[in-house]
Amino acid sequence: MKSAIIYYSYSGNTRKVADVLFEELKKEYEVDVIELKAIDESDEFLKQASRAFWRKKAAIQNVNFGLSSYDLVCFGTPVWAFGPAPAINTYLDNCIGTEGKEIVLFTTYGSGAGNKHCLKIMQKELNKKGAKDFRCFSVQQLKTNDKEFVLSQIKKL
Ligand SMILES: Cc1cc2nc3c(=O)[nH]c(=O)nc-3n(C[C@H](O)[C@H](O)[C@H](O)COP(=O)(O)O)c2cc1C
Repeated sequence: MKSAIIYYSYSGNTRKVADVLFEELKKEYEVDVIELKAIDESDEFLKQASRAFWRKKAAIQNVNFGLSSYDLVCFGTPVWAFGPAPAINTYLDNCIGTEGKEIVLFTTYGSGAGNKHCLKIMQKELNKKGAKDFRCFSVQQLKTNDKEFVLSQIKKL
């Protein structure tokens, strides 16, 4: 069984969650981890938020967009302005091979405003590509250092 974890993390919180997910999944799957790197992301909060709010895409470093060889595909993003980060928008727009796949969506967030909306946007994009079976979990930013907590959220899936 093969699994992919595809995520973007600007300040490290989503990466911590992806790391715990990796440790857990590798007990059952051969896991590929793809961390998206935005080439053109601003370091200014307002620019980041504005681009995310308008659902802009970021230029990202070369990655594999083909997901047909995976049984389970996981996507992780921080919530930015009630939606996914632009690098994830780019990936969701370009990826292929998600038809009929089991999908896990995960987010990290601050206040939680827009978290559900963010998950919905990701789900909608993947629905367009035939993905049907979605499971989601989210971790508040202050909880991302608590591995046991993160694991408990993953196990609820
Ligand atoms: C540009 C920007 C916009 C954000 N917008 C939201 C938001 O709408 N709702 C929310 O709950 N948190 C928001 N946050 C907080 C992040 O989602 C949170 O800090 C997240 O854990 C960061 O993940 P990362 O360290 O993987 O980049 C925002 C943070 C940034 C930088």
